Amino acid sequence: MSIARSVAEQLERASWIRRMFEEGARLKAERGADKVFDFTLGNPDVDPPPEVLATLARLAAEHPPQIHAYMPNPGFPAARQAVARHLAAKTGLPFTQDHILMTVGSAGACNTFLRSVLDPGDEVIVLAPWFSEYPFYIQNHAGRMVVVETDDQFLPDPARIAAAITPRTKAILLNTPNNPTGRVYPAEVLRGIDALLRSLDHPVTVVSDEPYTPIVFDGRTHPEVVTLIERTVIANSWSKTFAIPGERIGYLAISPRLPEAAALFNACAFSNRVLGFVNAPALWQRVVTETIGVQPDISRYQHRRDRMCAALTRLGYEFIQPEGTFYLFPKSPLPDDVAFIRLLLEDGVLAVPGSGFGRPGYFRLSLTVPESVIEGSIPGFARAIERRFPF
Ligand SMILES: Cc1ncc(COP(=O)(O)O)c(C=O)c1O
Repeated sequence: MSIARSVAEQLERASWIRRMFEEGARLKAERGADKVFDFTLGNPDVDPPPEVLATLARLAAEHPPQIHAYMPNPGFPAARQAVARHLAAKTGLPFTQDHILMTVGSAGACNTFLRSVLDPGDEVIVLAPWFSEYPFYIQNHAGRMVVVETDDQFLPDPARIAAAITPRTKAILLNTPNNPTGRVYPAEVLRGIDALLRSLDHPVTVVSDEPYTPIVFDGRTHPEVVTLIERTVIANSWSKTFAIPGERIGYLAISPRLPEAAALFNACAFSNRVLGFVNAPALWQRVVTETIGVQPDISRYQHRRDRMCAALTRLGYEFIQPEGTFYLFPKSPLPDDVAFIRLLLEDGVLAVPGSGFGRPGYFRLSLTVPESVIEGSIPGFARAIERRFPF
């Protein structure tokens, strides 16, 4: 049986992280794992918060009747109430359980929403550089991705977004704190997008994909997109903040300010089911119901950011210091980011070229590695920037 042409093409386009992963495996076999410095995957390496693990252990040992049964597709009412209370307290908006669907991660939330609103050919704006899965999420539902470049500080520019809007535009995928840049979008930029959307003669909804929200540094607070932009749905998860991406637990929250919130909720409940998710993992819905207020310890990520930024600055790399997440997105010292990635690779340093995020000329480092990997990689970063000149 042949693979669908569309999937074969997507596999080819999606191959950057996979290719680097394969290179890493080859290098580890060749040189030994301690000689390879792998910054490719955004896979948290810290432990989940102890309260979360303790709650998991206690709940796993309890067996109320029907606890492993199918449930309403949007999830357990208690979990949805807990998320609604949490969001209402944070945002001042009147969220109830009827605005919340528990989902299979933020990825599940994005797909559930897009499946619910896109007709073939409808357009979704993404801001470059973008999370590398967005093009595929949009294609999953026959949508058309429209790329809008962010400015030289990696911030969205409402005027550029305005220029990209057509009568077919249904949504804007917005991710702050941002993967891959680590930028936190300021409130005034978000207000600018709100003003733009209010001026349109058809509804365009922002999908605020925010799985990194608690991971912000230097005592910052993260502006609440849903309070600043009226037409917002939130896609969120505990993947990064509780370091549990394998557990696949998240939620979709529909702003109570959307006039069509009830109809959208019903559509999303249906989409969550027929996409094959059916419902979010039952045990983890119970865990987050009880642990939703737990604040993760982000000091390790801030320490690693500080260490890596200090080392790269000393070596002459240029970048905007991340305000959140665990990513760093430096400028490639060579215009050809792929050629520079190959230079790093010769010293066992694995990074992902900016081309994989729709912004050539940069590269992404994921600081989800022990401090020893950061320290061990620094000579490789030094040699690569020294050796760029022969090109
Ligand atoms: C911006 C962004 N959105 C969504 C996801 C998917 O997260 P989840 O594990 O919650 O599905 C990721 C994962 O890396 C991400 O970086």
